[in-house]
Amino acid sequence: MAAPTVHRYEPRGAVLELFRRKDGEILLSGAAGTGKSVGALMKVHLACLARPGVRALLVRKTHASLTASTLVTFRQMVAAEALQAGLVRFYGGSAQEPASFKYANGSVIVVGGLDRATRLLSTEFDLAFVDEAIEVTEEDLDTIVTRLRHGKLSYQQLILATNPGPPTHHLKLRADAGRTVFLYSTHEDNPRMYQDGQWTDYGRDYLAKLDTLTGARYERMRWGKWVSAEGLVYETFDPAIHLVDRFDVPDTWTRWWSVDFGYSNPFVWQDWAEDPDGRLYLVREIYKTKTLVEDHAKHILSLVKDQHGGWIGPRPRAVLCDHDAEDRATLERHLGMSTVAAKKTVSDGIQAVQTRWRAAGDGKPRLYLMRDALIERDTELSDAKKPTGTAEEVLAYVWDNQPGKPPKETPVKQNDHGMDAMRYMVAERDLGGRPGVRWL
Ligand SMILES: Nc1ncnc2c1ncn2[C@@H]1O[C@H](COP(=O)(O)OP(=O)(O)OP(=O)(O)O)[C@@H](O)[C@H]1O
Ligand SMILES: [Mg+2]
Repeated sequence: MAAPTVHRYEPRGAVLELFRRKDGEILLSGAAGTGKSVGALMKVHLACLARPGVRALLVRKTHASLTASTLVTFRQMVAAEALQAGLVRFYGGSAQEPASFKYANGSVIVVGGLDRATRLLSTEFDLAFVDEAIEVTEEDLDTIVTRLRHGKLSYQQLILATNPGPPTHHLKLRADAGRTVFLYSTHEDNPRMYQDGQWTDYGRDYLAKLDTLTGARYERMRWGKWVSAEGLVYETFDPAIHLVDRFDVPDTWTRWWSVDFGYSNPFVWQDWAEDPDGRLYLVREIYKTKTLVEDHAKHILSLVKDQHGGWIGPRPRAVLCDHDAEDRATLERHLGMSTVAAKKTVSDGIQAVQTRWRAAGDGKPRLYLMRDALIERDTELSDAKKPTGTAEEVLAYVWDNQPGKPPKETPVKQNDHGMDAMRYMVAERDLGGRPGVRWL
């Protein structure tokens, strides 16, 4: 007889409370690494194991982010033994049916991104878990709630897990209004961090990383506080407006690349598309530390050329580049393309970007970021809870309001690599008169 499958898991604090509760909606909020995802996944997994025919939904805003993070946690930390014992198997999905984890007892966890929600939400569920819920819209949540009426469990529940954001965020307002039970999870709730009244080595290392964060990010990720970022440079940036889902970019639109060099700090390559009305869309980006410029160049070429060296899509009209002479020469050599020195003045560049975020005469802003522009997440950055792409930087980019400095003049020079590259792009279009242009 096969040995019985054993998994040791100790729910504590907010997660223990989550296990006990049958309320319709629960928001598990807390600092980074407090055990929210593992806890919520475990509740869903155990519900599916315990009863046949349960239908659960597991989503994040994008399919790519779900696959890269939450599903890895599920396979490795939550369902590893059950997967190995064949009690659960993964089904990759088909044109008709979304991907899912299928349980031997007929229970199922449907998985996916809300960016491809149609198939996902065509049926009914007992439980739904939205990870990193800060990313999703109110409409997303309301749609999921309408799907919670499968009736295999004695209760239906929407579980939301998130790091905090600004106090004006719809999730916080939802909890303040009493629509959602608010559970506050702490680092002490995570047995891997904290044991027998002491921090573990893992916990100490992890907290030391969080202690290097600054500003609102520090308050949110280290202490789980819902605080606003004071003095945001791009106050008018609104993820609900300026982050857009991917669409097919016509080949006739002008393309631009913008590059900011870095090694310990991220190297940023942005691929922009400009529509016939002059609106700019960030289509793709590389945002990565500890990689040589020549390797970035090879990566970029692998994205834009086929194996015979032919261009897959349109060539950029120009490659706007940070000024570092050596890096620029290396990039040019390995891309086999010339570059243009970006217009780097900060103050007028920021103003130009601010103008583009605002709605123009036609009611639309002139600058957008595709939600899934990031090609590959730098795990070192995400483990350290640093921004992992341009969109995350925008929400943390603040003025340097040190005493003695004029207010709103210079931004804090930290986590500003995507900000610089984006500014080069906008400056190229909106600020005239740069000498020394080298057109391709
Ligand atoms: N109950 C537990 N027992 C043992 N280890 C745990 C437990 N809960 C979480 N962990 C460990 O802590 C790590 C962080 O947990 P988890 O990913 O759930 O945190 P989180 O709060 O979702 O983090 P984030 O804020 O980054 O989303 C996990 O990778 C896992 O190794
Ligand atoms: Mg998590």
